[in-house]
Amino acid sequence: MSAVVLYVLARMNVVTFWTTNDIYLFSKKSDAGYQVFQKYGCRDCHVVYGEGDYDGPDMDGEGTRRTADWLHRYFDNPGSLVPGTAHAGKFAPTFSKLSPKEKDELVDLLMSLKSLPGSPNYPKPPK
Ligand code: HEC
Repeated sequence: MSAVVLYVLARMNVVTFWTTNDIYLFSKKSDAGYQVFQKYGCRDCHVVYGEGDYDGPDMDGEGTRRTADWLHRYFDNPGSLVPGTAHAGKFAPTFSKLSPKEKDELVDLLMSLKSLPGSPNYPKPPK
């Protein structure tokens, strides 16, 4: 197919062929975290590995936007970092059902999800 045809199809949103510049660092630790992510239905609201729903923020690139320390504190007490957080239990579940081990595994998963400049998930300057 010629470049011109591809360009026209892309403008019509028939094909998409840009790269997102998201990086996944797979390991035993990220596998364990992905099991936990699926077990608790996090994908009903969050995207990991390009799959899931967008009711909450995209988790691809989370390991570049946040630190492991931030994520640990978020899972222990989301309201202390994000006042009025959806994860206080009104819209999104609290993290009280997660064991300390499961929280560690989730942090390992999220820290393995990196992004590069050019990705829509790369950190944005503060508003
Ligand atoms: C019903 C929807 C919903 C479900 C289910 C859900 N979340 Fe969320 N999550 C949200 C929304 C909305 C936010 C937006 C920020 C806020 O209000 O704290 C969020 C924010 C987050 C953040 C902070 C992102 C950031 O960098 O600011 C993390 C981490 C997170 N969720 C992890 C999880 C995990 C892990 C699970 C599964 C145990 C989960 N979420 C399940 C809706 C959901």
